[in-house]
Amino acid sequence: MKETISVLIPEKDIEKRISELATEITASFNNEPVTIICVLKGAVILAMDLVRKLKQEVQFDFVELSSYYDGTSSSGQVKITKDVTVDLEGKNVLIVEDIIDSGRTMNFFMNRVKEKNPKSLKLCSLLDKPERREFDVKVDFLGFEIPDEFVIGYGLDYAQKYRNLPYIGVLNIEQ
Ligand code: IMP
Ligand code: MG
Repeated sequence: MKETISVLIPEKDIEKRISELATEITASFNNEPVTIICVLKGAVILAMDLVRKLKQEVQFDFVELSSYYDGTSSSGQVKITKDVTVDLEGKNVLIVEDIIDSGRTMNFFMNRVKEKNPKSLKLCSLLDKPERREFDVKVDFLGFEIPDEFVIGYGLDYAQKYRNLPYIGVLNIEQ
């Protein structure tokens, strides 16, 4: 099997969009502190680029969720494989995710966070594939809407590969 990649979103466009998102996020929290929950591992690169551009006080923590075990197909269940350790009660929480596909993962996790009584809860995602949505998830800060293609790079993987690519690419697997 041969894997080929075509560039969907170049590095420069991602950089520019993240700066715009940081400005939007800074403005929307009215200078109040924000607690960022970065979803491992795919959102790490986005989250670390973003936090350095935010102007307010920032705390960050990590959660690892798994619902996507085997390459390109989603399995039904969401599991927390590494939970948040900071106290979220009364905090302005911003979840940072790589991509919203069916919405299953974020639907599950946002409901979990709501149970911890944050002051506010918002979602930032680099990518959104709205055509694939099965669960209602609202993205407050979105990088790019993309078509129903399997993408890699800038944190996103295929079988743990390609996360370090500085751009978003569409992966084609030739049989
Ligand atoms: P959802 O629960 O169906 O919304 O799936 C979300 C998770 O699936 C994301 O956090 C990604 O880890 C993974 N995922 C969905 N689409 C892609 C893709 O095109 N490339 C890589 N990972 C993806
Ligand atoms: Mg993910």
